[in-house]
Amino acid sequence: MARRWTNTLTRDDVTPEHLFLNRRAVLGGLAGVGLAGLPGSARAQEGLEPNTWEEITSYNNYYEFGTGKDDPARYADALTIDPWSVRIDGMVDRPGTYAFEDIMDQMDIEERIYRFRCVEAWSMVVPWNGFELADLLSLAGVQDRARYVAFETVLRPDEMPGTRFPVLDWPYVEGLRIDEAMHPLTIMATGIYGRDIPKQNGAPLRLVVPWKYGFKSIKSVVRITLTDEEPPTSWNRANPREYGFYSNVNPEVDHPRWSQATERMIGGGLFARRQPTLMFNGYADEVAGLYDGMDLTEFF
Ligand code: MTE
Repeated sequence: MARRWTNTLTRDDVTPEHLFLNRRAVLGGLAGVGLAGLPGSARAQEGLEPNTWEEITSYNNYYEFGTGKDDPARYADALTIDPWSVRIDGMVDRPGTYAFEDIMDQMDIEERIYRFRCVEAWSMVVPWNGFELADLLSLAGVQDRARYVAFETVLRPDEMPGTRFPVLDWPYVEGLRIDEAMHPLTIMATGIYGRDIPKQNGAPLRLVVPWKYGFKSIKSVVRITLTDEEPPTSWNRANPREYGFYSNVNPEVDHPRWSQATERMIGGGLFARRQPTLMFNGYADEVAGLYDGMDLTEFF
């Protein structure tokens, strides 16, 4: 199978003595590959300086554990992630409950360094390890009539103190159009920096859609449903004026309460500064075509 994305990890980035690696990342080899000749999605990683492990894992949004940025790191440890399975149902040929280990055995885990742009106008760069959502969906066999993909996060009030408050309508749900879901930039992340993804970041697997605001990247997924109707999304339900279904990063469409024209990079200490936000978070070459003919101020 042709490589559709690049692996930029080198041996120096990974210290097996200290870091617990995803099994397939080890089996798959971690040598870096050159960027020349690779498609745009690979080139989009060029020159991105990742945030530190500390930054990525201590400043989080995971409202099931509280609304503070440090709540997830503090409380997510209570989440049981073993055993874990994902139910894939709806318009698929092979609906069923897929064990996380079985999924991992069948996927090629590779690294992708993606910009991450939060709707709150801050951003990070994260070296994810994961696999393409399209490859997961193909395990279940997507039927032609499927137009959308709906996602659901686990809901365990005993382990998730934040769900005692009606901040959002639990469980957390999200959705993508089928072409967005099948796009090779759309991944299910299972690791960061070659280590298992921490619970506060959505263990054991979470969606990452790099051209959309971070809230589309639903964590700790337990159910994926293929459907022919646009699925509900938690933030749209909570506040439809502020959060639309598409949620593409767009510096020209402001959030009703703040501008989206610039962003603040997390980290960098004294040198932290605002920078202009890029259309589709910098992935326009790859994804702008998905929205040809759509008025993105109407479908925000
Ligand atoms: N998924 C669930 N289940 N619950 C959440 O509260 N927050 C979203 C998204 N996924 C959220 C979620 C938001 S608002 C953001 S910005 C990202 O997760 C944050 O991901 P990170 O903590 O890994 O940076």
